[in-house]
This record gives sequence, C-alpha cells and structure tokens, in this order.
Amino acid sequence: MDRIKVIGKHDLSGKIYISGSKNSVVSLLPAAILSDETVIEKVPHISDVENLEEILRYLNVKFSLESGTIHIDSRQMINVPITEDYSSKLRASYYFMGAMLGKFKKVEISFPGGCNIGARSFDFHLKGFEKLGARVTIKDNLYIIEAEELKGATINLPFPSVGATVNILLAAVLANGKTIINNAASEPEIGNLIEFLISMGAQIKGANTNRLEIDGVTKLSGGKVKVIPDRIEAGTYILAGVMNGDNLEICDVRADHLTSFFEVLDEMGANYKIVGNKVITNKSLNLKPVNIETAVYPGFPTDLQQPITTLLLRADGVSTVRETIYENRFQNTKYLNEMGAHIEVLGDTIKVFGPTQLCGKFVRTSDLRAGAALVLAALSADGETTISDIKHLLRGYSDLIKKLTNVGAKIWLEDE
Ligand code: EPU
Repeated sequence: MDRIKVIGKHDLSGKIYISGSKNSVVSLLPAAILSDETVIEKVPHISDVENLEEILRYLNVKFSLESGTIHIDSRQMINVPITEDYSSKLRASYYFMGAMLGKFKKVEISFPGGCNIGARSFDFHLKGFEKLGARVTIKDNLYIIEAEELKGATINLPFPSVGATVNILLAAVLANGKTIINNAASEPEIGNLIEFLISMGAQIKGANTNRLEIDGVTKLSGGKVKVIPDRIEAGTYILAGVMNGDNLEICDVRADHLTSFFEVLDEMGANYKIVGNKVITNKSLNLKPVNIETAVYPGFPTDLQQPITTLLLRADGVSTVRETIYENRFQNTKYLNEMGAHIEVLGDTIKVFGPTQLCGKFVRTSDLRAGAALVLAALSADGETTISDIKHLLRGYSDLIKKLTNVGAKIWLEDE
C-alpha cells in the first residue's frame, strides 16, 4: 500500500473545490437499483465508490461513469448472495440489504466492513426490516433477509441512526402501506437520498426532520440526483486553511450544513469568512481553547472530531473533546502525541494541551478521519512526515493529493 509524504509549513493559497459527499453517494448507489434507469451527478472519486461499483457489476447492473456522472441501468440485475469479498470492503455495502429487500423481497449478504471506530452494530436496521414483515436469519457470516410481502409499519428508532434510517427507507418505499420512522436521522445526506427516491416516484414526507412518513408504491421509475457537497471534506480543508491558509478559498461549500462547526471556529477566534458558497480562510493566531461534544446532526459532527483536534493543538490553553457517537475514535491521538502533541485520553473525552508545534514523524492511518487529522498535522509540522496505510484516506477524500498540491502543499504519494 502506498504512503503519503508531506513537508510541512508551506502556505496554502488558491482554490479547493469540494466533491460530492461520500456519505450521500454510498446510499445513492445502492438506492439506484430500485429503479430501472437512474442518473447520479457529482460522484466523488473515492475508493468507496469503486467498491460499490464492483458490487453493482457483480449483480449484473450496468453503469457508465463519465466526468462525475454515473448512468445506472439495473434492468438485468440478478439476485445472488453478496459474499464477504464484496461486502467487507466498506460499511455501506449493507445498504444493499434495504435496497434488495425492497426490490426482490429477499437478500443474502455477508458482514459489512468500514472503519474500526467502535462496535458499529446494525441491530436497529434488522429490527426495522422485521417490523416491515421480513425474517432475518444469520448463517455463519451470511445475513438472509426475506419477506413474502413487506408491510408498512411504525418504527421507533432507539437512536437516530444514519444507517438504520437509510436502510429502512430503502425497504419501505416499495412496501405495502404507510411506514413511519420516528427518531429518524436528519443528516443532510438522508435529505439527498430522499430527494433521489422522490425523483423515482417514492412518496416520502418529512425530509430533514426526525419523523419520516413513507407511503409505499408498487413501482419506481426514472430518478436523477446531484450529490450534495461533502460537508466533512469541506470542514477538513477549512481546518487546513485556518492553520496554513494565505487566502485559501474552499469552494462549493454548503455552509448551512456546517453550522455547529463554524460556531466552534468562531469561539476559537479562527480567521475565516463565508462568501456565498465559498469559505475564505487564513492562518489564525491567538486561538482560544474550547470544549467540544460530538452529537447527531445538527450538533458537532463526529466525523470532524479527529480533524479539529489537530487545530486545538494550536489553541492557547487546554481544550476538551467528548465523543458521544463512537467508542473508539481517538486513535489519531497516539500519533499526534508521537509528533510532539500532549493529548490525554480519559474514557470518552480527550484533553488537548496547547499550543504545541508538531514535528514530522512516521505515522499510520488507523481510520479515515484519523488519517485526515494526520494530514492536517503534517501540513503544519516542522519537517517531513510519512503517513502509511493511506487506504483509509482514499476511501473518503476525492483527489486529496492533487487538491492540496494545487494550493501549494508539498505532499506526494510514495510506494512502500
Ligand atoms: N448503532 C447501533 N445500532 C444500530 C445502528 C447504530 O448501536 O443498528 C450505533 C453505532 O454503533 C454508533 C452510533 O449508533 O455508535 C451511530 O451510528 P449511525 O448508524 O448513526 O452511523 P453509521 O450509519 O454507521 C454514518 C456514516 C459515518 C458517520 C455516522 C454519524 C456512512 C457510511 N457512515 O455511519 O461516517 O460517522 O453516520 O454521522 O454514512 C465517516 O465518514 O468517517 C463515517 C464513519
């Protein structure tokens, strides 16, 4: 596997364009099989998309991808078990559960993959399918989910899980009757999925709220959607800009999707300005320490928790970060400490002591957002940093090296 080398402390200036959202596109691609022919625009160039394309190919779904637009034709799709070789490459492979259950009333699929950041169970998804009338059997590593008929039901989620909301939506749009999802996730990526399903003829009310009402239809057809800008990618580059920017412009940003993130930057006194769909960033001095707690949308996103920790190292004093969504999302701190940081992990909370000047080291990417945190660290560290195991990063950051090189970063790929 390749590794990334970075020489730190180069000013970043120019423009970075944000790609389509990873967490949207990974539900939109499985959703596409619910209709015969669909179009998805602004598809990011990430390995999670390549792995989903591999699954589509295996299921005999035809598609063509050109200039970020994918045309998908599922008329000749076959229903075969999705084996571990395919399912384990990413978390979102399990969205084929809901989509294929909706389409064929039967799906067989092995355990999903994804970042090792906590238990990440998917019991709410399976209970939701059962509520809709499906039987769930687990044989070794294979989940067999089938129903003679899917029937609308009221489902009260114990927690507003993104994945469970997506999977239940995918199955419910073709069920008989009305499904209500209470305590549904309201992340913008779910709104994007609902927009796509509605463009296919699905009847869904309550997008962007915690109560979704789905009136099942017998058939879906057509379907077109543009993937929303990736709010986590945007947040990551905004952080790069407030650490190393010299008028670095982050373009195609949905600032309204990042409200709680900007509130934290304001509290810290970070130097940035929102102008339409652009965020203009500059190196920030005299940053104040803050206390952050991750939460479901619109709270502070867990996916920006590790990246912002790198900025907290610049603040003058002690900051705290409490992670409430995942049990194991502080693996970045080990490597930041090796680069000279002082971060203490106390259960679900970390204490970050600033200000610190990091220095380049050999570090390893344990998961996607930890990788982003290390890239941010390397960009502002003294000397050279080597980041290994970058397969995690490539899952979620479209053209990372190219985007950063274009704005003046000294960053390149190297074979191990
Ligand atoms: N949970 C359960 N049971 C369930 C479902 C969830 O206990 O059936 C727990 C999980 O273990 C976790 C918490 O609930 O502790 C949150 O899980 P959720 O289902 O909301 O998250 P997810 O669908 O697994 C998506 C994103 C994550 C992002 C979270 C929260 C995708 C493919 N993944 O995960 O993205 O952190 O929502 O916003 O959309 C990332 O991009 O780096 C990433 C991890």
